[in-house]
Amino acid sequence: MRTLVFVDDEPHVLSGYRRSLQDLREDWELRFFDSAEAVLEHLQAHPVDVVISDVKMPEMDGLELLARIHALEGGGPPVIIVTGMQDRTLKRRALDLGAADLMDKPVDPEDLVARLRSVLRIRHYQEELQNQNDLLESKVRERTSALEKSNKEIVLSLARAAEYRDEDTGGHVFRVSHYCPPLATKLGMSEDECELIFIASALHDLGKIGIPDRVLLKPGKLTSEEWAIVKQHCTIGAGILRRDHPVNRLVSGLEGPLPSGEPISGNPLLHTAAQIALSHHEKWNGSGYPHGLSGEQIPLEARIVALVDVFDALSTRRPYREALSEEEAIRIIRSSVGTHFDPDVHLAFQESLEEIRQIHADFDAQQGPLSL
Ligand SMILES: [Fe+2]
Repeated sequence: MRTLVFVDDEPHVLSGYRRSLQDLREDWELRFFDSAEAVLEHLQAHPVDVVISDVKMPEMDGLELLARIHALEGGGPPVIIVTGMQDRTLKRRALDLGAADLMDKPVDPEDLVARLRSVLRIRHYQEELQNQNDLLESKVRERTSALEKSNKEIVLSLARAAEYRDEDTGGHVFRVSHYCPPLATKLGMSEDECELIFIASALHDLGKIGIPDRVLLKPGKLTSEEWAIVKQHCTIGAGILRRDHPVNRLVSGLEGPLPSGEPISGNPLLHTAAQIALSHHEKWNGSGYPHGLSGEQIPLEARIVALVDVFDALSTRRPYREALSEEEAIRIIRSSVGTHFDPDVHLAFQESLEEIRQIHADFDAQQGPLSL
């Protein structure tokens, strides 16, 4: 059933419409109004398929009604303008304002039915098109979300593989992941960016896969040559994720090295993961590695991971020492603000301490990684 709204300040015109359309009452619901204001009020709460409006009315005229209907959310229903005046300028204005059709008074009943059918047919096609678009959009949303989910699963599988190379199997990699979002939120990152850093930070030490056992698992002190090898885990990790890695080139389609300034990966998750893997040992004052970046040259995500990585290492047990107390770990972190750590990141860390304590306690209770 289609709903048709007629508006005219002259009652006999409305009666004429009613008479002309009485045979079609089973297909169309007809509503009659004597002012444009009443139509607008009706449209606020009721679905309407077409409005047939007079132009000259005492308060709001038909053209203003037309403009106000088009300004409604979704553009409102189509409007047929009916005028007794042979004013060509007025007719052009009505068309400019988006009138679906124009009719002259007095309205010929057969002509009226034909025009209404035509406008309603177009409306039907538009609705069909809109439904198709809605369906397609929802399919695209579904597929995108499935793709994002599978991206995350792949990244987390890589993180679990990397965890086997970690000196602490008690969940360091995943604790770091959980510590990041509270800081990121306080630093003004969006919900999506927090989700990115949450997943991507799990790959911060991915490059340890490429460090030989004799160095990574060496019980004693490392020589300077061995340290140099350990430090390579940053470039190795980022290299695994880069689009121009020889293996990744097969899917990225790149023929050679990435042009400078290009994202490391076309996938935002892998790009963030690569940035973190590469720069999480850089220091605020430029004395870190691998590139000696300083200040805001270091991606914010990497500055966040740099702090929580050290905090977690200090506050958990390592094969060669017991865990430091929380106060001691916080004191050591504080003593490195401005040299190793970004002061703003440190501020966010201080504001997140309650959440961090809770995450730490939850990991302890589960004796292993929480689900990501
Ligand atoms: Fe590292």
